[in-house]
Amino acid sequence: MTDPNPDSLVVEGDNLAVLRALLPAHRGTVKVVYIDPPYNTGNAHVYRDRFGASGPATGAASHAAWLAFMRPRLELAREFLREDGVLFLHIDDRESAYAQILGHEVFGEHNSLGTLIHQRAKGGGNARMFVRGHDYIHLWGKDAEQVAPFVTEKKPPARYETIDGRRMLVDDDFLRVSFGRYQRGQERRLMYEDIEAVRGIAKKVEVDARLASGDYLLRPWGEPDPATGERKHAVLRLTPAEQATSKLYSIIRVMNADGSADLDALGLGGVFGYPKPVELLRILVESQTWSDPDAVVLDFFAGSGTTAEAVMRANLRDGGRRRFLLVQVAEPLRTAYSSTGGRTMAAAVTRGAEDDGAAVEQAGTLKVEPAGASAGEPAGTTKVDPAGASAAFATISDFCAERVRRAAVAHEDAGGAPVAVRFLGQGDLPDV
Ligand SMILES: C[S@@+](CC[C@H](N)C(=O)[O-])C[C@H]1O[C@@H](n2cnc3c(N)ncnc32)[C@H](O)[C@@H]1O
Repeated sequence: MTDPNPDSLVVEGDNLAVLRALLPAHRGTVKVVYIDPPYNTGNAHVYRDRFGASGPATGAASHAAWLAFMRPRLELAREFLREDGVLFLHIDDRESAYAQILGHEVFGEHNSLGTLIHQRAKGGGNARMFVRGHDYIHLWGKDAEQVAPFVTEKKPPARYETIDGRRMLVDDDFLRVSFGRYQRGQERRLMYEDIEAVRGIAKKVEVDARLASGDYLLRPWGEPDPATGERKHAVLRLTPAEQATSKLYSIIRVMNADGSADLDALGLGGVFGYPKPVELLRILVESQTWSDPDAVVLDFFAGSGTTAEAVMRANLRDGGRRRFLLVQVAEPLRTAYSSTGGRTMAAAVTRGAEDDGAAVEQAGTLKVEPAGASAGEPAGTTKVDPAGASAAFATISDFCAERVRRAAVAHEDAGGAPVAVRFLGQGDLPDV
């Protein structure tokens, strides 16, 4: 189905209602769903407030409440996916097994694509058992048979450049003077001007033909000749980026601390605790949209809006036009949590230290909102903000919208195409 609205969207509202309203216009149009839902803290107050359970819930009952909250949302998410679409479900240890079985039920186990590990932290902490610095990202395809392999850029020394408006893998070290070992500092590249003398006329003719076809390119290289002042040229081999990838490795290492730095870079630091890092989301989004620069990406637990910035970053790299659909409830961005029995960061650090030692990331003067937490951290939470910066944002959805605006400006400043975004409330939805 063709999406009638070519803009990206940021919608404020409860995702269940918003997804239902968006579905008619967006059914079968989304290539990637990424979600980082609030995690199950086992706190009875949380269930009453957040997941709608009627009373205190512990143990299996607490999982049941979380699963009841998630199931209809996952079922809707599936309806948004294209036949080759993929859902990424980011989750911590506590709910991982339950989330995976829920996903199998909604998508069918035969559509499971496995689980990625996100290494989010490194280093110590006072772990009682062991230091846990990772989360899980479970994957399902709408139809696993139709999902393309997950890919990523080739690692350095491979290098990508945009040449004549096209993203290319550039290899400047494939044409060698001779095979075998080279002394340190010795130039091993065979310069274009030396090809005939070293490798013969046939090789020169072959290289010229590939220069003419655009597979190769000459680039001035090294110091000018003292006698003539002329520089020689290296021969570069160009491969279109869409044909030059590696398979994604199942362990992805991007520190969660980078997520806070991403917000700092937009002048939004110290307001929203534990956003996911943009780079992680960029890797996930690109892994399924590398050759699909018009893809639509949906995140309906948007938090600080990391996914939107990741989509922009992917577009900046390859000139793509990917769009994002974000949904975030108007949860107060607050510094006191009377309704949920809010606790101070000291309490969270204790929990983290006992559980997994990842509290090293959680240090600081914080108050946490237990219900907003996910994947091993109190995400969706508010740092106590002595300077009052968070006073500018009444809700997480306000914060998310401002982050998306600022990221769009930064994207354009970096040379990206203008980002068309509509910011909507739940009431605007019948028109979407
Ligand atoms: C773990 S955070 C997501 C963080 C996000 N990945 C980021 O990088 O900033 C989960 C978010 O889901 C939001 N949320 C929880 N229940 C929701 C609902 N029913 N509808 C929409 N958003 C919801 C919370 O307010 C919180 O911001």
